[in-house]
Amino acid sequence: MLGRLNHVALAVPDLAAASERYRTMLGATVSAPSALPEHGVTVAFVDLGNTKIELLEPLGDNSPIAAFLAKSPKGGMHHVCYEVSDIRAARDQILAAGGRVLGDGEPRIGAHGRPVLFVHPGDVFGTLTELEQA
Ligand code: CO
Repeated sequence: MLGRLNHVALAVPDLAAASERYRTMLGATVSAPSALPEHGVTVAFVDLGNTKIELLEPLGDNSPIAAFLAKSPKGGMHHVCYEVSDIRAARDQILAAGGRVLGDGEPRIGAHGRPVLFVHPGDVFGTLTELEQA
């Protein structure tokens, strides 16, 4: 069911500073920031060729990463994202195996314009896991 690693997402308190750190200290190519108010984040992507790192900064009052940064003010790994070919079939397989999907179980359009779901971190070893239909 699982395909490629699409991205690893890091929550960061200051996206401009994080982007600059990746560029100058790590020598990486980082995209321009992109505000996604409907997702409560501003994102920038570190291009690694085989995958990417998604840098997430909170945007607005109800950001889904605000609580994470309150607990980890310096930032940290927020989630991993794997590609699947059929998001509903993936959900059904997870539910049938006793796993939990966040929200109402219906895929939503994610930050890349594709359907996504999140699997409860308690069911995948403490790691919030996003599935994206590739
Ligand atoms: Co993601």
